[in-house]
Amino acid sequence: MARLNTTQRTLGNGSGKLILFGEHAVVYGSPAIVAGLGTGATAAAHFASEARMTLTNGMTGERLTEVTPDEDKPLAKSYKAILAAFGVEGPMQVDVALHLPIGAGLGSSAAMAVACARAIQTIAGAEPGTVKHAVEASEKIFHGTPSGVDQAAALGGGLFRFKRPDEVQPLVVPPFRVLACQAAPGTSTAPMVARVRELHEQLPSLTDPIFTAIEAIVERAESALASADWERVGELMDINHGLLAALGVSAAPLDEAVHLARQSGAFGAKLTGAGGGGCVFAVAPPNAQEAVIEAWHQRGWPTFSFDLEPPRLR
Ligand code: PMV
Repeated sequence: MARLNTTQRTLGNGSGKLILFGEHAVVYGSPAIVAGLGTGATAAAHFASEARMTLTNGMTGERLTEVTPDEDKPLAKSYKAILAAFGVEGPMQVDVALHLPIGAGLGSSAAMAVACARAIQTIAGAEPGTVKHAVEASEKIFHGTPSGVDQAAALGGGLFRFKRPDEVQPLVVPPFRVLACQAAPGTSTAPMVARVRELHEQLPSLTDPIFTAIEAIVERAESALASADWERVGELMDINHGLLAALGVSAAPLDEAVHLARQSGAFGAKLTGAGGGGCVFAVAPPNAQEAVIEAWHQRGWPTFSFDLEPPRLR
């Protein structure tokens, strides 16, 4: 590896993500529409007395955890894999601040890995391409065999169409706001992906048409988004949510959050990410946005709003 600079403190950041359409089907080769969020994780790296990663909730300042690379915990293993990708052997400390809820389907693990890897890349003087390898290694620890959609968003931001293994096509869409709430505690991605795989192995004649329908939704959503046809976008979200429920990845609070949003005037709503728990998002006309947020807030669910940004240069 390149010569280490031991006095430097370097920074990195990574975007969270929101899958608008196509989660789960993307694992089987269908495209997905994904937004890299304007918020995610920031990291600061420096050489210290011991190799360590600290994780803080950037929204509250609360220290969440800290790990050393040899511990038997996913976060520690992820940190070890990132250090190994850069060939760092010295006592590197990385302090990560997360500006997203963990495990809620908003891509916190990829955002953290990208922020961490970018901070280390600068201090280690490594090739920028090493960041991608480091993040892939980290995501395998958290997600088993991920499609790559989270890391594509965390690396690039903006709205894009993704197809595995790494086809990324930025989408030019007029700016719009999505509303989100965390209706249930997050679940791990790997068991949800495994559940769909099991269903697919047992009943491929039922799951294949669902994946095909999700692919058709993604195709239509691309043109509905480009022409700012929010009613159509909402309708497609509703159908996509129903198909995800058919695959067994919804949950009662997620269904309830979706229905509350629709009753409050949203164009449509769906779960986002692996499901089982975590977040639901809605697209609503400006005069209904407050009502949607209020309906979720009344249920005691944390709410968020994201202004989806135009694609950045990748
Ligand atoms: O775990 P999440 O919420 O970031 O969602 C991952 C998206 C899936 O399609 C369910 C899995 C994948 O690797 O694409």
